[in-house]
Amino acid sequence: MKKHFLSIIAALVPLCAVADDGMWLPNLISARIADMQAKGFRLSAEDIYSVNQASLKDAVVLFGRGCTGELISSEGLLITNHHCGYGQIQSHSSVEHDYLRDGFWAMTRAEELPCPGLSVSFLERMDDVSSQVLRGYEAGMGERQRDSVVRSNSARLIEEATADEKGLRASVEAMYYGNIYYIFIYREYTDIRLVGAPPSSIGKFGGDTDNWMWPRHTGDFSMFRVYAGEDNMPADYSPENRPYSPKRFFSISTKGVQEGDFTFIYGFPGSTREYIHSSEVEYISEVSDPARIDIRTRRLEIQKRHMAASQKVRIQYSAKCASVANAWKKWQGEVKGVRKMNTVQKKREYERAFELWAAGSRYEGVTERIAALERELRPYAFARDIYSETAYAVELPKKNLVLKDYDIDIDRESFVVEMEAFLRYVPEEMQPQWFRERLADFGSIEAWSEAMFRSVDEREMALEFAERMQEWYLSEIRPQIARLSSEMALEYRTYMRGQMEFEKDRDFFPDANLTLRVAYGRVCGYSPADGTWYKPVSTLMGVIEKDNPDIFDYNIPQTLRDIYARGGYEDTPVCFLANNHTTGGNSGSPVINADGELIGLNFDRVWEGTMSDIVFDPEVCRNISLDIRYALFVIREIGHAGHLIEEMDLR
Ligand code: ARG
Ligand code: ASP
Repeated sequence: MKKHFLSIIAALVPLCAVADDGMWLPNLISARIADMQAKGFRLSAEDIYSVNQASLKDAVVLFGRGCTGELISSEGLLITNHHCGYGQIQSHSSVEHDYLRDGFWAMTRAEELPCPGLSVSFLERMDDVSSQVLRGYEAGMGERQRDSVVRSNSARLIEEATADEKGLRASVEAMYYGNIYYIFIYREYTDIRLVGAPPSSIGKFGGDTDNWMWPRHTGDFSMFRVYAGEDNMPADYSPENRPYSPKRFFSISTKGVQEGDFTFIYGFPGSTREYIHSSEVEYISEVSDPARIDIRTRRLEIQKRHMAASQKVRIQYSAKCASVANAWKKWQGEVKGVRKMNTVQKKREYERAFELWAAGSRYEGVTERIAALERELRPYAFARDIYSETAYAVELPKKNLVLKDYDIDIDRESFVVEMEAFLRYVPEEMQPQWFRERLADFGSIEAWSEAMFRSVDEREMALEFAERMQEWYLSEIRPQIARLSSEMALEYRTYMRGQMEFEKDRDFFPDANLTLRVAYGRVCGYSPADGTWYKPVSTLMGVIEKDNPDIFDYNIPQTLRDIYARGGYEDTPVCFLANNHTTGGNSGSPVINADGELIGLNFDRVWEGTMSDIVFDPEVCRNISLDIRYALFVIREIGHAGHLIEEMDLR
């Protein structure tokens, strides 16, 4: 027994220990393909990205403006996370038709619900356009001029790239702090319809309690369909439109995953900052994150209290509260992870070694110049961060305020904690004069709040508040940030190049910037704390173990209990872990096996690894995916929507 156990451990450790951080550009994947193949991948670089033939990239989309989705049928069927479709599901929901609570399944194409405002973008191609973008730029021109050269060249390239074709959208993105520029050309479809979503008690099972955590049992998926005009090209919504026929869609593997299996994630990671200076890491983990956590703790207490007291408010604030809570919890993990990794200290040592190496070269002194700029920037950056968490978070004056989703009591109480935090965190000499005077007039934030939030029909006072605070931000804070960031951009461009020369043998991936990337790794567990090892797969048995009718987040649908009671469902897979490097935006990304088939949907990371946007720890950084077989189970057994599975290509 003991021997058997040891041999399992011995077999696991080498499989999991060698993790690769990195989010690679798909058009350059040939540089990594040998490594991917050595780790088990059986396809070629051309299978991943090609402009000459259909490739996997044609099945991956940017979903909305911050998630990933993928095509899973020849008739435009798309799958993404429940939390990515959340806003759409919510906007079709009311107390009478509560699709958030009950789920939604279109039984016919006619029942699919149009989602105005939602779009999905397919990447047509990406190209290095550095020389075109920098045409006309000469060394010594200064950052202002460089920016304007980059801007006007980019605008021209975008216009040329999108000139005569329907639905084309392009953007030019800086890589490696503007050492390289890429153009991305997308075809953007705007007739997207909601097809299916499980009840939140499955799709958001565990809620904010389990969010960012393992073991996880969330059925985090929803389905949509992309519609096109008669020519299969993008078209505005019309009942005449027909399902889009994709160049490529994913086949689905039902074989399941095992520890050590090769996996790769293809999607749109939003933002990472892997190469920043120690002083910026320190600002994030010791200054900004802690303050923002504190403010959100207070706001969340208010939202949760009102949501618990009213079903109406629960629906109104479900999406808002989830998004406030999501970053709040992530920041806490990030602070912990950065401290545990000792990243500030390690970066300081790195910077010292760098400067020793750089002495006498054109890189000399760059880290010190960044540190000096950061010192100057910090009070303004902090004022911006606090402003956005406080005055800017007040809802009543917002132009796009959706009254259907608004509760004035929450806003009134939040105003008090927000503006008290503003007073506490923004030094008095930086606070707007107008704010000090008004506060003196009212005597207290509470009195001010009572006067301001009398009714939604009297918004003048709130509008004036928002305007004055914004005026302050735009005139006192933002210009300073813009000036210092522009100086910083030059130094970072130099520092990035310097780091790449300093560590000649290291492969540097460009920081995530919501462009298409490939990350690869293996299915594997981890040790979150001394004496504990987490297995990499969770099952329906765990859902039943957590099930509790008295706790909102763990109250599963009765049908699921009934199905489980029939017996034989204990091992139904639910979620799994792997060590792919992912970040926000990767939600909904296809998790792909060695043969290019879909095995899951990425939706989260483990809490101990949320510092991976700054520093990746192969020991604990894990992405969390939904096992695609759980989605199939839910579609069939809970949604009774077997017709959707008929459309798919199951292997
Ligand atoms: N943490 C995941 C991500 O960053 C999921 C968030 C949605 N879920 C939630 N309970 N708020 O998007
Ligand atoms: N949950 C995130 C998303 O929505 C993914 C992550 O941060 O790992 O993109």
